[in-house]
Amino acid sequence: MVRPTDELAAHSIVSFLESQGTKSTLRFITCGSVDDGKSTLIGRLLFESKAIFDDQLASIEADSRQYGTQGEKIDLALLVDGLQAEREQGITIDVAYRFFATNKRRFMVADTPGHEQYTRNMATGASTADVAVILIDARKGVLTQTRRHSRIVSMMGIRDIVLAINKMDLIGFNQTEFDKIVADFRAFVSDFEFSTVTAIPLSGLDGDNVLHRSARMPWYDGPSLMDFLDTVQVSDDAVGRPFRLPIQWVNRPNLDFRGFCGRIASGRVQPGDVITVLPSGAQSRVKSVLSGFSDAEAAVAGDSVTLTLDDEVDISRGDVIVANAYRPEVADQFEARLLWMNEHPMAPGRQYFLKLGTREVSATITEIKYREDVNTGARLAAKTLDLNAIATVNLSTSAPLVFDTYRDDKGLGCFILIDKLTCKTVGAGMIQFALRRARNIHWQELEISKELRAELKYQIPKCIWFTGLSGSGKSTIANLLEKRLYAQGKHTYLLDGDNIRHGLNRDLGFIEADRVENIRRVAEVAKLMVDAGLIVLVSFISPYRNERQMARELFGPDEFVEVFVDTPIEECEKRDVKGLYAKARTGQLKNFTGIDSPYEAPAKPEIHLKTIGCSVNECVEDIAHKLGVEPLSSPLVMYR
Ligand code: ADX
Repeated sequence: MVRPTDELAAHSIVSFLESQGTKSTLRFITCGSVDDGKSTLIGRLLFESKAIFDDQLASIEADSRQYGTQGEKIDLALLVDGLQAEREQGITIDVAYRFFATNKRRFMVADTPGHEQYTRNMATGASTADVAVILIDARKGVLTQTRRHSRIVSMMGIRDIVLAINKMDLIGFNQTEFDKIVADFRAFVSDFEFSTVTAIPLSGLDGDNVLHRSARMPWYDGPSLMDFLDTVQVSDDAVGRPFRLPIQWVNRPNLDFRGFCGRIASGRVQPGDVITVLPSGAQSRVKSVLSGFSDAEAAVAGDSVTLTLDDEVDISRGDVIVANAYRPEVADQFEARLLWMNEHPMAPGRQYFLKLGTREVSATITEIKYREDVNTGARLAAKTLDLNAIATVNLSTSAPLVFDTYRDDKGLGCFILIDKLTCKTVGAGMIQFALRRARNIHWQELEISKELRAELKYQIPKCIWFTGLSGSGKSTIANLLEKRLYAQGKHTYLLDGDNIRHGLNRDLGFIEADRVENIRRVAEVAKLMVDAGLIVLVSFISPYRNERQMARELFGPDEFVEVFVDTPIEECEKRDVKGLYAKARTGQLKNFTGIDSPYEAPAKPEIHLKTIGCSVNECVEDIAHKLGVEPLSSPLVMYR
């Protein structure tokens, strides 16, 4: 039985929820340097907007005594620094999302770490925010980390900025100091694409200008932080932009229903809209828009929907349904701004996974155009990118991507890069524009095929890839194997690291980026030679798994044979035929494989040669046998 009080409670909950439902949500990020009081400020916003439950408050009061930094006062930062590790170290280490509401709006705030090593968390928070609150400690002014964060905020497309100059109580609420910091900041961001920069002097600890205007700073006549957040009109409007729906899943429960599911990245859609599917270019009309199981009149950016179409159109995951009248671009090469987020430096030429919307492709950074100095914005030359570096780069993808430039649409203009081996997110990028390079170049079909060329030579073309440390015996073994194959009338070519570095790759050294490029080039050359019908032997240290995998992927399933010449480094060093180990040990030779540059042994090579206790001839016979080469009828002779 429903009692009247229950009904009353239910009624007020429903009306409360309804009132919440009609409010807009503002997503903002707080960022700045360590110790500038971000967590305390957010704690205060939550506290004052009554977004804290009584039990939370009680637990914070208790925690304040144990972990707090405010003596007998309640430490509001503890509200936000929710993770145990954060409490122990006294810093915020992850992106903590908090929710609260006022009468006017709902808020979702991403509290992000100030420490430099957590810049990537800050970038993650910024990628979904409408407004950034950049905190500055009034005693310290604009710091490198403020500049770095402002640059990332601008790069991530946030256009409305609050410059929250905190701890005003510690500088005696001094207007001159405040004005000076504001002027510094404005000069720094003068060429950033911010629409509004609102500077507010405040004290997160005491609450001045947080919710209400402070009587302690009568010279300030702007809004309090909360007033600002309550009323700011965000410059970026996802609903107002053209319709984009990246397809996550095609729902085909039976032959009569085909629904295309995903979250609308931008714009709005309703039955009857004319749409185009990209990259195929097929056109159709929206038959119905389903939200959950029910028909909707329309849906907007942020909604998860299923669309059905009037026509049978071939659509799969990763495709994008777009407004017919406003189409995004489709290209496989483009210029982007990139934030490198991995401890391991970025290497041009290396393949990463690129994820944009729901599409995932292989991608290579083909060129670093320049790196930006975080403080001055100066364009610096760079061969690789270190953690937290911001750069402008060219990228090339293995298949065409559907995208908008970041300036036009954040949703389909940004991507992440993922390491192929570790599956870690290593970079975040924003597309600036498409490069037209490959657009007017078409693949020319040739009439003489690899198969025909190979037939003429009575052989099956292959790439036999030797990898191993310097001095492991790769070249000696490859050389003898080539002789062996030649003796049996095979058409071969041996690509040897030392030799190729005298010609085609003479511009490359031994830093990681150069080695990546070294292998990329030689793999492409080997591919051409296999295409010519040859048996190609490649003898390069090729120390990185990633690039050996890249090489493998250029060939057909049985065409690539990886031979790991496994000689322990002690043995290579003992032999030291070229005297390079001795030089490396004394520091005369830098980045030497196995000493101060890594060698990543193959996990599953086709052929694993343990050379200790095995003569060169035995090694070669072992490979020949595994390759299925006929046995020799007479011993090898030299051909000169
Ligand atoms: S790779 O790492 O990029 O694959 P590659 O096989 O082309 O190397 O070249 C290796 C050869 O260069 C070695 O056999 C050695 O003779 C010479 N060399 C010179 N400096 C180095 C170095 N720092 N590390 C390794 N090899 C070096």
